[in-house]
Amino acid sequence: MPRLHHYLRNQVFLVFFLFSSIASAATVEHVFQVKDVMVKPLCKEQMIPAVNGNLPGPTINVREGDTLVVHVINNSTYNVTIHWHGVFQLKSVWMDGANMITQCPIQPSYNFTYQFDITGQEGTLLWHAHVVNLRATLHGALLIRPRSGRPYPFPKPYEEVPLIFQQWWDTDVRLLEIRPAPVSDAYLMNGLAGDSYPCSKNRMFNLKVVQGKTYLLRIINAALNTHLFFKIANHNVTVVAVDAVYTTPYLTDVMILTPGQTVDALLTADQPIGKYYMATIPYISAIGIPTPDTNPTRGLIVYEGATSSSPVKPLMPAPNDIPTAHRFSSNITSLVGGPHWTPVPRHIDEKMFITMGLGLDPCPSNTKCIGPLGQRYAGSLNNRTFMIPERISMQEAYFYNITGVYTDDFPNQPPVKFDYTRFEQRTNSDFKMMFPERKTSVKTIRCNSTVEIVLQNTAILTRESHPMHLHGFNFYVLGYGFGNYDPVRDARKLNLFNPQMRNTVGVPPGGWVVLRFIANNPGIWLFHCHMDAHLPYGIMMAFIVQNGPTPETSLPSPPSNLPQCTRDPRIYDSPMTNVDLSY
Ligand code: C2O
Repeated sequence: MPRLHHYLRNQVFLVFFLFSSIASAATVEHVFQVKDVMVKPLCKEQMIPAVNGNLPGPTINVREGDTLVVHVINNSTYNVTIHWHGVFQLKSVWMDGANMITQCPIQPSYNFTYQFDITGQEGTLLWHAHVVNLRATLHGALLIRPRSGRPYPFPKPYEEVPLIFQQWWDTDVRLLEIRPAPVSDAYLMNGLAGDSYPCSKNRMFNLKVVQGKTYLLRIINAALNTHLFFKIANHNVTVVAVDAVYTTPYLTDVMILTPGQTVDALLTADQPIGKYYMATIPYISAIGIPTPDTNPTRGLIVYEGATSSSPVKPLMPAPNDIPTAHRFSSNITSLVGGPHWTPVPRHIDEKMFITMGLGLDPCPSNTKCIGPLGQRYAGSLNNRTFMIPERISMQEAYFYNITGVYTDDFPNQPPVKFDYTRFEQRTNSDFKMMFPERKTSVKTIRCNSTVEIVLQNTAILTRESHPMHLHGFNFYVLGYGFGNYDPVRDARKLNLFNPQMRNTVGVPPGGWVVLRFIANNPGIWLFHCHMDAHLPYGIMMAFIVQNGPTPETSLPSPPSNLPQCTRDPRIYDSPMTNVDLSY
């Protein structure tokens, strides 16, 4: 039990139980000490910002209906915020933790208390810093179990096991902003690189199992920039939830998770007593891009009574195995009638068609840019590159009616129609689509309206799967496809019966997804690519959901201790837009 002791020693964990007559809800309280610590996953010591000294940081355990209170004390040398990835934040937009969107960062030697209710969702989520690059080491699991007395919609597992995948650089995180960004040195499983990497042969995540028992794996991809395939030698698993939404049980031998996605899967130890590797390998969907660091990262499943035999290895998919990725992603369906399940709304109030991908930004003079045509990369959603404000958070600008911070003109479709997935630069308008406009633009929607988004991936520079993440809401994924979305042919095939619900979707390379969500939560909510490297590129936009008619459906006031928007030039700030970057 050294792991458990270590865990208990390293966190202040207080639970107050408040009883009500209907169901018990508790307040779960944590202290997050952010400080710079020395770690050594591979051969060299590296100083990293970490929560309570651990990589990954503390696991938060709550029940649906609980209130979570986290006191973040920033003793690091960085500006930080903590985002509760996938939490609905119903009427608590100020607690969303998106740097410069819902708050200014917590500066070194300051603190901030996040407090919010977790309702209407069960399963596995994660928390992470919402400051570019810092998410690499500031992250952890957020496990939401049913209220007491309510069962899982599947047989109770013998044990629950968080499995966090991470991406590791043997360098100062500040250096990740240089371009081209350094290739990562390893992927980790629960902080351990395992036996495929130097100096880490004996530091491998080990799961001890008893033959015949069933384990709930709570899998989180906390890697900064890479989708990961995950497989266990000789074992199938049954997926029972994704992104903290229950699914129809789905039997599979391989999984894929984009950055920010989670999977809850049941693993039954039904094989002969022995040792079995479990492994992750990056999924590199971009065509024509060299595939670096594709060494599988391994952990071990050890059956009770296993002798010192060599473990069985899983046969991993190729890093560019698009069909396998597509099969897993598109086969998941939601558990109709399960806890918190809601039917797909049929009436649509706002229809959007959003082209997505990379474009270019003119290279400043006297600078060497590394992008195609000697320019620098820029992200594009409907030909806009999102610029994160630098002086005041958008939520404060919205709440206090401060103008000049953003514009309310995010378009419902791209400025020109073109062959999105077979892009050839033939005409001037094609050329125009290569150079998106830099703007901080939002889309305003009425409270409780239903929004449908066709997300069309483009091939403007390359085809690549982007994991798009929506703050504050789950969306239904009504369909996935390749090529250009056809509103007649493809609309007929959408799943309106049991589509999966998620907060992060991997849009197929050279393909599309159709999403629908109900905007029932007032405030400002980001929608962005969850590859961290694409945040400063600006593959991002925001929705403003207006107040509803009642105080109950209106914005709360900001908390009194919201961090101040003063920027201290002595404090390291990671880059917010690629305009800051000299490449
Ligand atoms: Cu997990 Cu805006 O991010």
